[in-house]
Amino acid sequence: MRTLQTTADLRTTLADYRRAHQRIALVPTMGNLHAGHMALVERARARADILVASLFVNPMQFGPNEDLDAYPRTLDADQARLRDTGCDVLFTPTSQMLYPAGLEAHTRVQVPGVGDNLCGRARPGHFDGVSTVVTILFNLVQPDIAFFGEKDYQQLAVIRKLVADLHLPIEIVGVPTQRAEDGLALSSRNGYLNAKQRAVAPELYRTLLAAKAALERGDPAPEVINDATRRLTEAGFTPDYVELASVDLGPVTLGTREAVLLAAARLGPARLIDNIAVTLD
Ligand code: PAJ
Repeated sequence: MRTLQTTADLRTTLADYRRAHQRIALVPTMGNLHAGHMALVERARARADILVASLFVNPMQFGPNEDLDAYPRTLDADQARLRDTGCDVLFTPTSQMLYPAGLEAHTRVQVPGVGDNLCGRARPGHFDGVSTVVTILFNLVQPDIAFFGEKDYQQLAVIRKLVADLHLPIEIVGVPTQRAEDGLALSSRNGYLNAKQRAVAPELYRTLLAAKAALERGDPAPEVINDATRRLTEAGFTPDYVELASVDLGPVTLGTREAVLLAAARLGPARLIDNIAVTLD
């Protein structure tokens, strides 16, 4: 595996592969890799000749009072894991390298609509930061295929729209959420929880499972959402939202069959998110 830090090195390395007609896969990450990330890496490995992972804690997608400085950075362990999985290229740029004009002066990519609600409401500018860095990475790597987790469902929807709207010739693959044995969706931010909070955290997924069951037996959505919100509050969360949406994050209408129930809730120092597919009748 080659670890490259500059855009120039990345471009020359990938140009050689592309000339040899190699199929290139990209897995963008912010590092601190866990089994959730590795599921993406393994699927990418199976679908391409050349596997590129990027590791960049993207300052543009963090709000002023968010955890940019606290975000865990574990480069050595990440490198070892990627090497063991057969990753070919690890790209670890600096902020200066990706945003030479500085964050404020840099061109931004804004995907309207799908990023406005849910997490977009609580984290203004977050999805612009994600869309911008992912567009930059797509342009530098020019992958044939790129992998994103369903855990960050809204992020995946934003990226699908970005790729469609900009006519980027990249296949986007969504990978199912990887969970701990007790159901908690794996996340780098779980590391912020103390033992007591970690014991409470799986209640987020259990609440979604119960709500899914209620919706699928025909209980009215507003009631189910109220119950779920109350259950989270009683467990010690501060819920941000529990919402039912169509699979493309539009409104649920009478004709909607395939839907998704999404939740975000604060637990101590961590803001946890999760979602679950729901089939309505
Ligand atoms: P990060 O949080 O490091 O996640 C990298 C990728 O791993 C994302 O596509 C995310 O959805 C996926 N992922 C994380 N936890 C997962 C889990 N438990 N199961 C399945 N997939 C999981 O998401 C980002 O970084 C950034 O916003 C990024 C896309 C890299 C842009 O900066």
